[in-house]
Amino acid sequence: MNTNIRPESMTRITTKELADKFIAEQIEEVRAQVGDKKVLLALSGGVDSSVVAALLIKAIGKQLVCVHVNHGLLRKGEPEEVVRVFKDEMDANLVYVDAIDRFLDKLAGVEDPEAKRKIIGSEFINVFVEEARKLDGVDFLAQGTIYPDILESDGVKAHHNVGGLPEDLKFELVEPVKLLFKDEVRVVGRALGLPETMVERQPFPGPGLGVRCTGAITRDRLEAVRESDAILREEFEKAGFQGKVWQYFTVVPDFKSTGVKDGKRLWDWPVILRAVNTVDAMSATVEEIPYDILFKIRDRILAEVSGVNRVLYDISPKPIATIEWE
Ligand code: XMP
Repeated sequence: MNTNIRPESMTRITTKELADKFIAEQIEEVRAQVGDKKVLLALSGGVDSSVVAALLIKAIGKQLVCVHVNHGLLRKGEPEEVVRVFKDEMDANLVYVDAIDRFLDKLAGVEDPEAKRKIIGSEFINVFVEEARKLDGVDFLAQGTIYPDILESDGVKAHHNVGGLPEDLKFELVEPVKLLFKDEVRVVGRALGLPETMVERQPFPGPGLGVRCTGAITRDRLEAVRESDAILREEFEKAGFQGKVWQYFTVVPDFKSTGVKDGKRLWDWPVILRAVNTVDAMSATVEEIPYDILFKIRDRILAEVSGVNRVLYDISPKPIATIEWE
């Protein structure tokens, strides 16, 4: 039987009861698969890896080793939330790696978007391999592969796969949610007690804020992206857009424009707001945000984010624009 094909008879997980049943079955399966061996998991804090972590903590406790790599390109509060939820509340075996300087030093001066992506991807593997080598007796690698990853790519999508591991680090895979659709993963996450902020998290690219700080990433502009993104998210949550608008974020491009403050001319960055709806990310439409909400976000960004003198709303659909700016 091909274990990568969802049987037609499989019930769609829509309720807590169905999720509890799925969780109990998976706990048994995982225990049977791994015995008393250790399992490694790259825990980003996204929905899929978080659900896998919570499930495996229930199944095998401290035999699971979660590695959270902070590459400096995460959203405000995310690394702290991972530590709070998994280490403090679930008592997980969590290795937190502060690799911020390492990533930002490697990225310094690199303008090309694809070169930036390559550096972020390969540096992530380097950090993960270093951490894996420090551990003894790890035979398994858990991954948050979900069913659309298998359907879309006839295999496992790169962002769910710590691909490119060296030969001597070939682990057997543990993929407990690989037959689930995204909405089912969220139902399972809720049943496992994960916070709503994690379960309802919008899609976030692997290279993170790195592709929203266009051109060569600088630390000050990266902070402007992170702070403005946090303000946008906060105001969208207050307005009830969380879970309704598919993806929203800010971009700080690598150019400046003139402004004026207290009679003096300024030379500062713009912040671009983006909020889109889509079904499959192949095409996207722009959310019609009421002007009072846009003005509130504008006022907060201009008052709270340093180095910024303009706020723009990107009204371009996909195609012709992509969702991200690079
Ligand atoms: P675009 O910009 O191509 O984005 O319209 C479509 C969706 O893909 C996400 N995206 C990425 N996800 N690694 C990822 O894991 C990437 O390099 C990447 N680039 C774009 C984007 O956020 C959107 O949801």
